[in-house]
Amino acid sequence: MTEFSLMMFHWFVRVNFAVQYMDNNINILAIESSCDDTSAAVVKDGKVLSNLVATQKVHEQYGGVVPEMASRAHMQNLVPVVQTALNNAGVDKKDITAVAFTQAPGLIGSLLVGASFAKAYAQALNVPLIDVHHMQAHVLAHFIDDPKPEFPFLCLTVSGGHTQIVLCRSHLEMEVIGETMDDAAGEAFDKTAKMLGLPYPGGPMVDKLAAAGYEKRFTFPIPNIEGYDFSFSGIKTAVLYFLQEQTKADPEFVAKNMNDICASVQHTIIKFLLLKLEKAAKDLGVQHLGIAGGVSANSGLRKAFAELCDHNGWQSYIPEFQYCTDNAAMIGITAHYKYLAGKFASLDVSPTAKASWE
Ligand code: KG4
Ligand code: ZN
Repeated sequence: MTEFSLMMFHWFVRVNFAVQYMDNNINILAIESSCDDTSAAVVKDGKVLSNLVATQKVHEQYGGVVPEMASRAHMQNLVPVVQTALNNAGVDKKDITAVAFTQAPGLIGSLLVGASFAKAYAQALNVPLIDVHHMQAHVLAHFIDDPKPEFPFLCLTVSGGHTQIVLCRSHLEMEVIGETMDDAAGEAFDKTAKMLGLPYPGGPMVDKLAAAGYEKRFTFPIPNIEGYDFSFSGIKTAVLYFLQEQTKADPEFVAKNMNDICASVQHTIIKFLLLKLEKAAKDLGVQHLGIAGGVSANSGLRKAFAELCDHNGWQSYIPEFQYCTDNAAMIGITAHYKYLAGKFASLDVSPTAKASWE
């Protein structure tokens, strides 16, 4: 090969790469099936064109998610949900440039349904496959709408299975600097609701009832945990003993004080969460802060978080409700950044129920 043809060859490779990874015409079909919501989204060049969530009602009668039933419902829901997501986006499947799916963490059966579907779809369309970490996606939900956070960005991710403080240096460079040692914040809400006889999932119900209650009526101890970690099992036990004691004296105690109990427990959870977040932000000198995950839909947390940031002169980021709880749009936006970075998965990638941060 002459020097000239070698130069032309390098030039060709570089141009080809740039065209392939250019930030336009990236149409991602994203699938989220980690727990009990079947969701599909179409994300074009980082913009969400459609985001559909089919909630599985079958679990309500059991007071919690039944894993096998969740897998079966995903199998029923996935094809129509994907088809509707494509229709709503006005995108033909031949224009899809990558298929993304939640690889971890979650219920293994549920993850398997989404992963198998995504692999088959990607193979049929002959486009790349992108594996996405669910917790990373909750954080990147902040990059769906404007204004987008600046880096470094500190995110408090609070969901049904996780509670984390994540330091983000870029879209794909994230470090979990604190997390729960036992229950997640969402579990603290759900278990409180269960003790109060409220239906599953209890978090939104506690939130609603707390709005009409007095948050300082009852006090529960804030756990004394080192660093930026959390523990919610103590709060749960304190609420349990408190309710047992009070109902012994007055069997109608819960019914008479429902709003104040919800407000007081919610206040304790929020206070603990924000105490740690504030400490982390001050220690690390981070000025851009966000909340993410299902519990970030909580109205008390949203308000208290915004107030904390205002008080300290920090920029606060709160996702739209539809991007707080599980959704495929957040999987799609994460896949968008992975696409730009050329991070694709091979077809033999397996879903994992428990996975550490990548
Ligand atoms: O992120 P998510 O949808 O699923 C997981 O990845 O776990 O979070 C679900 C959790 C549940 O525990 C649910 O009760 C809680 O988020 N949640 C709320 C609210 N909305 C959802 N907790 C408190 N207040 C809410 N408004
Ligand atoms: Zn989630």
